[in-house]
Amino acid sequence: MSNHEKIDELRKRKDDARQGGGQERIDKQHDKGKLTARERIQLLFDKGTFEEMDMLVEHRSHNFGLQKKKFPGDGVVTGYGLVNGREVFAFSQDFTVMGGSLSEAHAEKIVKIMDLAMKTGAPLIGLNDSGGARIQEGVVSLGGYADIFLQNTLASGVIPQISAILGPCAGGAVYSPAITDFIFMTKNTSYMFVTGPNVVKTVTHEEVSSEELGGAITHATKSGVAHFALDNEVDVIEGIKTLLGFIPQNNMEDPPAIQTDDSPDRMDEELDTLVPESPNKPYDMHDVISRIVDKESFFEVHTDYAKNVIVGFARLDGRPVGIVANQPAVLAGVLDIDSAMKGARFVRFCDAFNIPLVVFEDVPGFLPGTEQEWGGIIKHGAKLLYAFSEATVPKVTVITRKAYGGAYDVMNSKHIRGDMNYAWPSAEIAVMGPKGAVEIIFRKEIAEADDPDAVTKQRTEEFRNKFANPYIAAKRGFIDDIIEPHQTRPKLIGALEMLENKVDSNPRKKHGNIPL
Ligand code: HXC
Repeated sequence: MSNHEKIDELRKRKDDARQGGGQERIDKQHDKGKLTARERIQLLFDKGTFEEMDMLVEHRSHNFGLQKKKFPGDGVVTGYGLVNGREVFAFSQDFTVMGGSLSEAHAEKIVKIMDLAMKTGAPLIGLNDSGGARIQEGVVSLGGYADIFLQNTLASGVIPQISAILGPCAGGAVYSPAITDFIFMTKNTSYMFVTGPNVVKTVTHEEVSSEELGGAITHATKSGVAHFALDNEVDVIEGIKTLLGFIPQNNMEDPPAIQTDDSPDRMDEELDTLVPESPNKPYDMHDVISRIVDKESFFEVHTDYAKNVIVGFARLDGRPVGIVANQPAVLAGVLDIDSAMKGARFVRFCDAFNIPLVVFEDVPGFLPGTEQEWGGIIKHGAKLLYAFSEATVPKVTVITRKAYGGAYDVMNSKHIRGDMNYAWPSAEIAVMGPKGAVEIIFRKEIAEADDPDAVTKQRTEEFRNKFANPYIAAKRGFIDDIIEPHQTRPKLIGALEMLENKVDSNPRKKHGNIPL
């Protein structure tokens, strides 16, 4: 064979690999409203920068006639390239090849790039579209999954890991995305569940569709498994790129700063009247956030799950921050099981990847009731407390209104190493709200009074005047400054600049024991 013929052969082999499962199956994939593995890769990476690896890898199975069913690449495209100019590793499962099912070779390809991503300190993106373990390979395939799970776990907190679910993801296969930092799903074309509708029907006699059991909306609203549920794959890929824009390459780097034309000195007078004068009136904390951070920079995570807490990324003077905020417009901003877990996981991500935390606080306390107590609000609430306590990144808090009870301590208080804790003049910092407090400490006096309502009212007013303000906390130094709301943006930017070189650490240990 001449050299030219050898080159032609190489080209032919690579062309074959690019065909995946063939045109018929590619058409089928398109008919379902899905892109192919390679189309997704093209959308994700900057033009011409993707370097594919292991394009010619084949499976080694001889079971059930598989030796005659070989596709170069074996159902997954893997490699690296630039995303908005930054090095990123990715795998993209190819449903046109045996349903994207995971063989031993397929798993080895994924593990290989995970290993490289770890060694070079670059984010890993997984584009999942697979029928799960390659059934013909049996336990060998299960071993392949476990190899991936181990790599996901070792990489956690070292490099950012982002998963997109763009088709089926069932059985134990769900546990790789579950260990990663963020999960994106497409509406109507993706699902995740440990056991599918048929098994559910047999075991629990429940009739449920795939979409209802484990579709994007379900996981973005009910289970909290998905952080983003988007309309289509193009939106998912765009979402991944936006997310990457806030996070560093690895845990040794700072998150990427950008130039902004939003002045650090900008003040927003509307903030002075944004908190309603009546303590029981709701307002939307999104309005507070968007008026303070760099214009249009807020990128919310988990938008539709546990909406009583808001989490997301934003920029202040071009630098990424993680926002954690109570939302008085939903359940009065109370903390419950779901919101505590949502907040805790976000705080830990930010801390792992050197992203400063900014907290906006208006919290009346923890949600009472048997459902919460029996559901373990004690251990789940403790997660948020633990996460804020152990975080060593710069941590700044702004109390806009209520900071009551244990929730005051939990929401990045000074006592758990909040670096700069501000309050607005509208802040109420106390063990509990005036009405509840009066009913307890003046119970006897109220019961014995000729006019209990009048006594309650008078005592409530007294309590409100004495405690429902930020001044007692400020006198103790629990609040570093009481600021006028319109000053908040420059104050936060100044505080974060001051904290830029902050060094703090936790005692040496193998790892802590967060209440799981
Ligand atoms: C081998 C598979 C496969 C699998 C699909 N295919 N899943 N081959 N192993 N797991 C093949 C099909 O045989 C078919 O091949 C092609 O992929 C496309 O599949 P279709 O069924 O035609 O596609 P569709 O109708 O869209 O249905 C997709 C599907 C279905 C819902 C995913 O294929 C399915 O139920 N697959 C099995 C899912 C499953 O039980 N997986 C194991 C789960 S356990 P041809 O050649 O006919 O086109 C698991 C454990 C992981 O994953 C444990 C980790 C610890």
